[in-house]
Amino acid sequence: MWREQDVKELSTDDVKKGLDILKELGVIEIVFSGGNPLLRDDIDEILEYASRFFVTTVYDNGSMAVKKIDALRCADFVAISLDTLDSEKNDFAKGVEGSWKSAMHAIETLHKEGISVGVSPTISQLNLHEIIDFTNYFLKKEIPVWYCLYSYDNLVDSAQVFKIGRKNDELQIVEKEAMAELCDQLIDIKRKDSNVLITAKILRAMKSLFLTDERTWKCRALQNFFVIDHLGRVAGCHLRNPVASSIFDLPKVWNSPQSNALRKTYRECAGCVYLCYIFYSLHGSVLGNLQVAQEKWKSAKLLLKKDATKPLSLAKQR
Ligand SMILES: C[S@@+](CC[C@H](N)C(=O)[O-])C[C@H]1O[C@@H](n2cnc3c(N)ncnc32)[C@H](O)[C@@H]1O
Ligand code: SF4
Repeated sequence: MWREQDVKELSTDDVKKGLDILKELGVIEIVFSGGNPLLRDDIDEILEYASRFFVTTVYDNGSMAVKKIDALRCADFVAISLDTLDSEKNDFAKGVEGSWKSAMHAIETLHKEGISVGVSPTISQLNLHEIIDFTNYFLKKEIPVWYCLYSYDNLVDSAQVFKIGRKNDELQIVEKEAMAELCDQLIDIKRKDSNVLITAKILRAMKSLFLTDERTWKCRALQNFFVIDHLGRVAGCHLRNPVASSIFDLPKVWNSPQSNALRKTYRECAGCVYLCYIFYSLHGSVLGNLQVAQEKWKSAKLLLKKDATKPLSLAKQR
């Protein structure tokens, strides 16, 4: 990101005004990701403001969390990316020497400080057979595990808003039956430990995807979830063209015929398997969020947040 990103990010005031707009639209949860959101000097102010109205998650690769620990105290969940207990392998996957050490240090420090921190492995061919041991290692320490699934940026629209990961054959999951078996094993572990932060519904959907190549869900981009980049542009997902060139235009376009047509297109799309998008496609409704809270996923704080029970105001539910 830092190699490519320009510096004209939204100002603090504009971020806050943008958050007000999201609140009005009925958004209930915000995931701050990047790049690295903790690189912003005003991240403490932004998180404090956002956490008043939304369930907030912050992603870090372990490089910033300890330095910005005070800003993270008000976040509902901090996810630290770490792919394996093997330090060399992790540093290879992340492309940065020392990333394993800093991520482990961040997880331990935040956990000791009472911050709601979890470890977030991206499941790929590289760590497929380690995920159970990895999960058990952190569960023993009462640290929640929140999974990502390796996916790569496919060109689905001409002007995607930002990038997450390019194709890497080494990471592509080729042992599909082993992946299905992993889903079953995680469903089992989940029954005994609520710190496995993935729902049985998602695990069943993933298992079916790997065994049959069929998707058992419809993508709910621009309906249950959408993305906003550092410039304030809004898109259904990071691989799609912006629907609004500014967050301030979002209320105008949210219920437009064009947005409704895009929602229909996205529902049939199979352009990616980013697990967070699958998650919000399967669980993004208010009812879905309540089910997740019931499963003790994240904190039941969602239920207590003021104004947090209003659904995204779609003109027509599709
Ligand atoms: C969008 S990333 C970036 C946030 C932050 N820079 C970090 O590394 O944690 C959020 C999560 O997606 C994961 N991720 C990165 N590349 C991915 C890929 N190609 N497929 C699936 N998940 C990926 C990261 O490991 C991280 O847990
Ligand atoms: S499946 Fe959904 S999230 Fe993935 S590229 Fe298509 S529209 Fe975007």
